[in-house]
Amino acid sequence: MEGAGVLLRRSISPRSSNEHDPFLLFDHFAFNNPVEGPIRGFPMHPHRGIETVTYMLDGSVNHRDSLGNAGLIGPGDVQWMTSGRGILHEEMPRRGESGGIYGFQLWVNLPAAQKMSQPRYQEVNSSAIPVVEKEGATIRLVTGELDGIRGPVTEIAASPLYMDVKLAPASKFTYAIPRGHTALAYVFEGTGEFGSDPSTLPLVAGQGVVESVSMVVFNDDGDQIEVKSETGVQFMLIAGAPFKEPIVPYGPFVMNTVEEIQQAITDLRNGTFVK
Ligand code: FE2
Repeated sequence: MEGAGVLLRRSISPRSSNEHDPFLLFDHFAFNNPVEGPIRGFPMHPHRGIETVTYMLDGSVNHRDSLGNAGLIGPGDVQWMTSGRGILHEEMPRRGESGGIYGFQLWVNLPAAQKMSQPRYQEVNSSAIPVVEKEGATIRLVTGELDGIRGPVTEIAASPLYMDVKLAPASKFTYAIPRGHTALAYVFEGTGEFGSDPSTLPLVAGQGVVESVSMVVFNDDGDQIEVKSETGVQFMLIAGAPFKEPIVPYGPFVMNTVEEIQQAITDLRNGTFVK
């Protein structure tokens, strides 16, 4: 439970072990089902030292911050917010025409040298996100490259890949991930077989089968990932370069030292958090 009592699925969360470096958190929120509770939002709260990435599939999030930015993140839109040294913002979900609200928030770390940078937003309308159709796969490219096409979000320290991949029944998807990069797949619809070592592909039937809802962590540092599905699957593919720096997470702050966390708390108390 987060914010003003929002029930959500959190598959990874910020920890000092930093095992998914440069990724810190992945939240999946939906209000389509009674068990997921009434619509509640995330009233004014601070962030420092991270990037928060909101991607909506249905419904919207009304956003407002301490710097005077405001807007609506609608279905298919993405907001890539680089908090840098600090923002205070409010994120309030709204139902779409279908009555549903469905989306994800990813937190990406910032390297030490950029933790106190100026806040920055990249807000991309659904229509500006390229859609690549390829052998039964429909891919929406938020950031990263596929077949010479680049996603609209650029100049992010972690050199991330973030794409929404939908596979039709009886199809396959392969993608080359740079060696040393962290790779994750958040499977939110259907079932697929996920593998990361080309020497063992094609996968033996039944091996690596993943049903939604699951976070796949690719542990092998192979050359590519491969996903096959007999019945169809949809997932967010997430990859990026680790910073290999120590982190100290504290709620909405992720810094490199305890002193920097204490400074964030002092700044918040003294009203000097946002400049
Ligand atoms: Fe936030």
